[in-house]
Amino acid sequence: MKLAVLGAGYVGLVAGTCFSDTGNHVTVVDTNPERVASLNRGEVPIYEPGLAEIIKRNTERGRLRFTTSVSEAVPGAQVVILAVGTPSAPDGTVNLDYILQAARDVAGAMTGYTVLVTKSTVPVGFHKQLAELVSAHTEHPFAVVSNPEFLKEGTAVSDFMGPDRVILGATDERAIETMRHLYSAFMRRSDRLIVMDPTSAELTKYACNAMLAARVSFMNEMSQLCDHYGADVTQVRVGMGTDPRIGPHFLYASLGYGGSCFPKDVSALVSMGRAANIPMRMVEATEMANAGQRERFFERVRHHFDGKLADKRIAVWGLAFKARTDDIRESAAITLVERLAGAGAHVVAHDPKAMDNARKRLGERTLTLVDDEYAALDEADALVICTEWQAYRTPDFAQIKERMKGDIIFDGRNLYDLEWMAETELTYVSIGRPSVP
Ligand code: NAD
Ligand code: UGA
Repeated sequence: MKLAVLGAGYVGLVAGTCFSDTGNHVTVVDTNPERVASLNRGEVPIYEPGLAEIIKRNTERGRLRFTTSVSEAVPGAQVVILAVGTPSAPDGTVNLDYILQAARDVAGAMTGYTVLVTKSTVPVGFHKQLAELVSAHTEHPFAVVSNPEFLKEGTAVSDFMGPDRVILGATDERAIETMRHLYSAFMRRSDRLIVMDPTSAELTKYACNAMLAARVSFMNEMSQLCDHYGADVTQVRVGMGTDPRIGPHFLYASLGYGGSCFPKDVSALVSMGRAANIPMRMVEATEMANAGQRERFFERVRHHFDGKLADKRIAVWGLAFKARTDDIRESAAITLVERLAGAGAHVVAHDPKAMDNARKRLGERTLTLVDDEYAALDEADALVICTEWQAYRTPDFAQIKERMKGDIIFDGRNLYDLEWMAETELTYVSIGRPSVP
């Protein structure tokens, strides 16, 4: 099949690449000329494990191309996928400017019946707005399909190629058949394609992210109770997660969730409720609990230094919003670094993949970045762990103690066993677990 994908970000690049790997001819369009130029030089602008190899394989076979021009990509494409950003507007609603512009461009370039697929996360009811807009700009027949994406950064390729399910919100039979054919390569184990009406598909996407975010916020509030009453949240997690009705996923207490999706989708759902005059109390509480958890983690560090962070040297391990990605959007680590620096601390940070993005976002005046995590420790008064990278999981504690001036670790990811920490000469403060010693 011939496909066009608009947006060469975490979703568009992964979707376009994976569809080319199953034999389709895919042209990915992005309005950012630097991004397209780097892809055309064979450089992948984001870090996503496994992606670079598949891009290389398919560009070499001529099945995957990158361009800034919609009129090069869309004519003759049977399926056009919209995967551009839908960021939060300042009032928490969704900024649809990019996707509406992309839709106008596509409509103007279509040359025949086209299946127009929305993979971007869009507010409930958007498919109607999309259909009206496209009809106003083309004489050609088309069908809109809502196909929300559920991949996670860091495992995006395997999530895409082996999805738990694929949701199609559509009513046009020809479009449904085309999409069934497109996804059949990923459905060989069993058919996991769920067809529903587009409004339900759009809402399902927000409901999933809000439910997952709520689990994290719930555990984060449990972690605060654990701290107060002397319980251990990791034991509570195991006890809860072994109940099959609850399950083990997304129960890890942390310094707060982040990323380009949970924060924006949770606040979009609150706005959608508000617009319908239906208060989304559970969703609002999820958002409030997350803000509280981030603040609480910062306060623990500040409190340790009696509120005096000026001139303290703080080592930070991890800047990405989670491991296995270079993405720092809404990262709790970045908020923390800003708070620490704002209070006068000198932050020295390391991240295996996200330092370029952090440098662009914060500049070297807010923090010093170092290529070796141990170099961040020299003369540090404290070590703060923000991201659960594998490389931080079993560190050399003797070296940590030796290089630091202070002797305290604040762990926002509960990486270390409390028994190991009792064997070190370090003080260890984690989330919802007794401090050591
Ligand atoms: P991103 O910011 O990484 O990429 C978006 C890309 O779209 C950018 O490269 C931008 O230059 C490009 N773009 C903007 N306007 C364009 C236009 N008119 N034509 C062509 N390209 C254009 O975004 P992302 O993280 O890939 O997310 C895209 C959408 O998918 C969002 O709606 C997001 O909520 C949703 N989503 C993201 C994830 C994820 O893990 N990142 C997962 C599921 C769903
Ligand atoms: C999330 C969803 O998991 C995807 O299904 C969805 O497609 C995507 O959002 C999206 O809509 O964009 P992602 O943002 O890549 O994926 O990351 P997650 O793995 O969900 O983690 C989100 C945040 O929650 C991270 O900051 C992570 O550290 C935190 N988290 C996650 C916890 O603190 N505890 C957990 O148990 C799980």
